[in-house]
Amino acid sequence: MLGPNGAGKTTTVEILECLRSMTSGEARVLGLDVMKKAREIKYKIGVLPQDFNAFDLLTVKENIQFFGSMYDRMLDPMDLIKVMDLQEKADEYFKNLSGGLKQRVGVAIAMVNDPEIIFLDEPTTGLDPKARREVWKVIEELKKKGKTVILTTHYMEEAEILSDRVGIIDRGRFLALGSPREIIDEHGSGSHCIIANADAKCLNVLKERWPDHEIRNGNFIIPLRDKDNLVEIIYALDGSGGNYEQIQVTRPTLEDVFLRLTGRKLAEGGDTENAE
Ligand SMILES: Nc1ncnc2c1ncn2[C@@H]1O[C@H](COP(=O)(O)OP(=O)(O)OP(=O)(O)O)[C@@H](O)[C@H]1O
Ligand SMILES: [Mg+2]
Repeated sequence: MLGPNGAGKTTTVEILECLRSMTSGEARVLGLDVMKKAREIKYKIGVLPQDFNAFDLLTVKENIQFFGSMYDRMLDPMDLIKVMDLQEKADEYFKNLSGGLKQRVGVAIAMVNDPEIIFLDEPTTGLDPKARREVWKVIEELKKKGKTVILTTHYMEEAEILSDRVGIIDRGRFLALGSPREIIDEHGSGSHCIIANADAKCLNVLKERWPDHEIRNGNFIIPLRDKDNLVEIIYALDGSGGNYEQIQVTRPTLEDVFLRLTGRKLAEGGDTENAE
């Protein structure tokens, strides 16, 4: 679930985790109604809450053991520690770990009952790029083990890299749902060819041939309808006898999709003042 601050990500996952009741509508997890089968669902899911914290003065292993003892079914803490690549920190106090390692302990705790679905609420927010990548690796491992991971994030590259399916959420509603590719194809503005600093000879040919162009900051921008377009552009440039600095093809991203759908950038947040 990709959305800016205040979009309703935590609210939605907390309803699915049976931690919060909804005011209207219906929700099912693994085919079970969250209003009627909360207990059954809770045994089948794992949860890493936003702003997760474990016990500072328990070690990594003791924390996993403690949370595991709440379930009838519990995986071996040392196995989880291995999966999360925390062997060297098994006997370290939780308080002494870096942010990235703490999040990995959080994922280990979320896995302790061997759940079918794991909810991770913004597991990488506030982490530096290296720690973020380490958490990504852990999530990739969970996917390889066949677990369904429901991840919330406001980082579009994270959604694009990790997700098989993305839901873009804003102001409590999904705006788009599908694989990153599908969403970009449906809502994106298409690929563009950008020719930087073309001289007059090039521009004359380009302008006549591609009347649907745009010129921005010295860049000549042509919407690409299909791959052949690019070949035609290169031939035209070559035939013009002119010069240009560089030629580049850009593909729209989920960020562009968000901008097109809401008129705002992801990082700008919920903008609740104008919310209906
Ligand atoms: N579907 C909804 N209808 C009405 N209000 C909602 C809905 N979803 C969320 N809210 C309200 O919007 C506010 C922000 O929601 P929430 O904390 O779930 O956002 P978030 O996406 O998790 O934000 P953050 O990225 O800051 O964690 C809350 O006050 C919540 O009650
Ligand atoms: Mg949240």
